[in-house]
Amino acid sequence: MSVREILEKRRSVRHYDSNYKVSSEMLASLIESASKSPNGNNIQATRYLIIDDPHLRDLLLPIAFNQQQVTEASALIVVLGDYQAFEKENIINIHEEGFQKGFFDASLRDYLASAAINYYANKSKEDLTIELTRDASLASMSLLLLANEAGLETITMSGYDSEQLKSTLHISERYLDVMLIAIGKGIKDGHKTVRHDVNKVIYKNKIQ
Ligand SMILES: Cc1cc2nc3c(=O)[nH]c(=O)nc-3n(C[C@H](O)[C@H](O)[C@H](O)COP(=O)(O)O)c2cc1C
Repeated sequence: MSVREILEKRRSVRHYDSNYKVSSEMLASLIESASKSPNGNNIQATRYLIIDDPHLRDLLLPIAFNQQQVTEASALIVVLGDYQAFEKENIINIHEEGFQKGFFDASLRDYLASAAINYYANKSKEDLTIELTRDASLASMSLLLLANEAGLETITMSGYDSEQLKSTLHISERYLDVMLIAIGKGIKDGHKTVRHDVNKVIYKNKIQ
């Protein structure tokens, strides 16, 4: 299926076959490809916390306002951003790795690393949160496309209590929880949804 076909057919699915298994290898393969998504300065800040413990899933159910996909879907992933990815050491290491692999020369390595370090140097926590959200959102959409291409259904969720989720899963302040993604075999199609006419969302040169 082409990307366009997947986008035309994809729906958020809220009912899953709880007996259907998606293997750890399959999930890792989908995440590996999703992590090829563009990300700011290639600092690779997005993390994927897979919740496969049924007890934890049960605990998360009320935290996610009893959305049954939390327990019924084959996979539940908490998509996170890692604030530590902005640290100088991470930025230098990533660019050094690219240099060692022969992807660019030493002068481009140094230029890219220092440009990234300077870019984040004066950013507020709020700015960094937006950076993490951008990167995690792009990777999440890639993961949805890949899962749909593999014949699975998905739903992204922000409908959960962030503080309770972080405390239940012992997620420290190092991480920003961006969204939940459930993946599995749907047993009921997601309802169709409308979209604005394209002319309502395109503006040229100015927007009011
Ligand atoms: C960031 C984000 C959070 C969402 N959170 C929820 C959620 O908590 N529960 C839910 O049922 N749907 C959730 N959705 C799904 C949207 O309702 C859905 O994408 C939208 O209605 C369009 O429908 P479609 O995905 O089937 O095209 C979320 C979608 C996004 C992008």
